[in-house]
Amino acid sequence: MVYSHIFSLNQKVAIVTGAARGNGKAMAKGFLEAGATVVIADINETQLGKTHKELQEDGEVFPFPLDIADESAREKLVTETLRKFKKIDILLNNAGITFPSEALKYPEEMWNRIYQVNLKSSFHLCRLAGKVMLENRSGSIINITSLSTDLGFPNNSAYSTFKGGLKALSKSLAAEWGPFNVRVNNLCPGYIVTDMTKKAYDDPKVQAARAEKTLLKRWGRPDDLVGAAIFLASPASSYITGQDIIIDGGWTSNGL
Ligand code: NAI
Repeated sequence: MVYSHIFSLNQKVAIVTGAARGNGKAMAKGFLEAGATVVIADINETQLGKTHKELQEDGEVFPFPLDIADESAREKLVTETLRKFKKIDILLNNAGITFPSEALKYPEEMWNRIYQVNLKSSFHLCRLAGKVMLENRSGSIINITSLSTDLGFPNNSAYSTFKGGLKALSKSLAAEWGPFNVRVNNLCPGYIVTDMTKKAYDDPKVQAARAEKTLLKRWGRPDDLVGAAIFLASPASSYITGQDIIIDGGWTSNGL
């Protein structure tokens, strides 16, 4: 056995959602540098165009603008990927939104939107890509969850609920598809500095309090997620499925 290529994604075809910026962009770049062909999908067409230009230096990358909540757009994303590249080896369900609000006042339209974007779209994409992976007897699906799946997160009931659903979904699919060598895992970030968390990060008190909760005494950066994403996508994790990889600077181990 030779181990020098176990982190390589050469010849692999990946779809990364929410890849125009933030965590998704960093992980898409990591996949490209590891050798994969990457379809980057995002609702923000302008930003997606910029990111596409930037990432072209790193490998074969194709932009696909879509609202992930739109069922027919999701179907087109998968059919177009298959038309161009014949297979899908890696699906990274990263697109996500948040809408903080007290539970008693939580707007129903935002509850429904977060369900659509953070959970239903991921389930549907898992099914569309999973079908192809099952036929090929090979594939890796990575779902981006959150510490809020296990820790109480006030004023964000919809986010916690649907990230929790996503975490459970991965385990269910891992059990169903394991016999066919299709692996499904969760990558769970702690607080990462992105546009999503900018407001909190820009408040010095909140920034310091959250850094203090970690063992590494700092917030995460999108770059901090890349190694684990490549690991989960690559043969290096060939016997790992149904798991949560927590990248939180030690937040969840901070005890006594
Ligand atoms: P971000 O807001 O910077 O990036 C999210 C990307 O998803 C954006 O490019 C956005 O345009 C895209 N997107 C949003 N709605 C979409 C839709 N309907 N269709 C297609 N694309 C859409 O946020 P960030 O931080 O990079 O988040 C990425 C993922 O990481 C999300 O699932 C988020 O919940 C998760 N996460 C982030 C954490 C953090 O501290 N930043 C912590 C834990 C999880």
